[in-house]
Amino acid sequence: MTTTMTRPKVLVTYATWLGSTTEIALTIGDMLRAGGHEVEVTAIPEVKFVGPFKTVIVGGPIRVGEWSPDVVNFLEANRHLLRDRRLALFVTCLTMRMDTPESRHIVRGYIQPVLESFPDLRPFDVGLFAGAFDVHRVPGREQVKLWSKPHLQGDFRDWTAIREWAIGVSTYLASLEMPHKA
Ligand SMILES: Cc1cc2nc3c(=O)[nH]c(=O)nc-3n(C[C@H](O)[C@H](O)[C@H](O)COP(=O)(O)O)c2cc1C
Repeated sequence: MTTTMTRPKVLVTYATWLGSTTEIALTIGDMLRAGGHEVEVTAIPEVKFVGPFKTVIVGGPIRVGEWSPDVVNFLEANRHLLRDRRLALFVTCLTMRMDTPESRHIVRGYIQPVLESFPDLRPFDVGLFAGAFDVHRVPGREQVKLWSKPHLQGDFRDWTAIREWAIGVSTYLASLEMPHKA
């Protein structure tokens, strides 16, 4: 009788426009590594093949009420593989700069059309995080008249909330990988 312990690879992949989601993805990766998981953190355009990963964590920002097309295209392109993977999602946006039930309701409304268009994908968790916005980093400032309001400028990322979410994911994944007798 032998006892085996496996910690399959986790892919954390992300979309970003202005760059702030990158550090969120890296922090999620760090927390998972600290929990003993083998993790790769890669921007969506750099992901070659999801095949080797048993768990995939995908996230990206909201832009004008819609989830990043990179996230949607990634889900579509990998749909068949992701059906058989553990999947978690995360969203970054400014609505979450105040974490209230109302904000969460609005953000769930942003991502609901995407979740409904992939009924076969069943994420075990969806993290809703505040992002950051610096108008000076935006190419073509004309696009962002609405978002250049001073009260929407700033880095609202809540590292405690991000770490706590990632630790929850890490603990959940570890619980699925408890030693079993062969
Ligand atoms: C053009 C533009 C439109 C945005 N639209 C929304 C929106 O509709 N709702 C929201 O909550 N945040 C919105 N945001 C905020 C972004 O989601 C937030 O700044 C996010 O952290 C950006 O992530 P990134 O730095 O990885 O690109 C918008 C930002 C920009 C620049």
